[in-house]
Amino acid sequence: MQDFRCYRQVDLNLVAGVNIFVGPNASGKTSLLEAILVLATTTSPRTARDRQLVRREASWGMVSGQFVDAEGGSVSISVILQGSPASADSDAPQLPSVLTTPKRIEVNGTVCASVREVVGQAPAVLFSPDDLQLVKGAPAVRRRFLNTAIAQLIPRYLDDLVRYRQALRQRNELLRQMQAGQATGQDLAPWTTQLVQAGARISADREQFVTAWASAPVTSTASLATGLSD
Ligand SMILES: Nc1ncnc2c1ncn2[C@@H]1O[C@H](COP(=O)(O)OP(=O)(O)O)[C@@H](O)[C@H]1O
Ligand SMILES: [Mg+2]
Repeated sequence: MQDFRCYRQVDLNLVAGVNIFVGPNASGKTSLLEAILVLATTTSPRTARDRQLVRREASWGMVSGQFVDAEGGSVSISVILQGSPASADSDAPQLPSVLTTPKRIEVNGTVCASVREVVGQAPAVLFSPDDLQLVKGAPAVRRRFLNTAIAQLIPRYLDDLVRYRQALRQRNELLRQMQAGQATGQDLAPWTTQLVQAGARISADREQFVTAWASAPVTSTASLATGLSD
């Protein structure tokens, strides 16, 4: 990756199995995990503002990775991010002409029109100390975690989430209109159907995921990945 968070340029070879990054506070450990999540999900688990991912003095940054699965199949993903113009050096390199949108995503060298083409290619989840909220926090935190994980495994899941939220919003709006005598129960029915159908699928997907996850073996081998450089 290049000009990502505190990294000017870093090439990393991860090994199969467990990789451990050791370093003092604020040395960039979480940023490495964040980079992997950006490739897997196109967004950072730490910030919704992509500009924050680009190294402060840089006008753009990039993360690229090649993921190899157990069968030897591989996929290459690149995410090019735009930095904040305000913070960019006056003598910083010009934005590459390819960068016409704030974020450019490529899978196997082909530009992606939609995040759907990326999500699921290299499934990843992040669990960090901050994620203790997963256990201690509100149910919404757990649902968000499940949504991110499952959307990568079941492409339809994302569609169902969108459908569910849409139906919920429309249905609530109709309920308000019904109260004012501007809508009837008949108007409500299609949204109820959509809500129930999408909701049932989401619920079943979550149950399946949690069941499979709870019975997954915990990997106990550890190996150290070195080669970190700034
Ligand atoms: N956009 C950025 N540009 C430059 N440095 C950044 C940027 N965002 C974060 N940092 C710095 O990156 C460092 C690494 O943070 P982090 O990856 O959270 O470290 P660790 O997990 O090892 O404690 C921090 O010192 C932080 O100030
Ligand atoms: Mg950290």
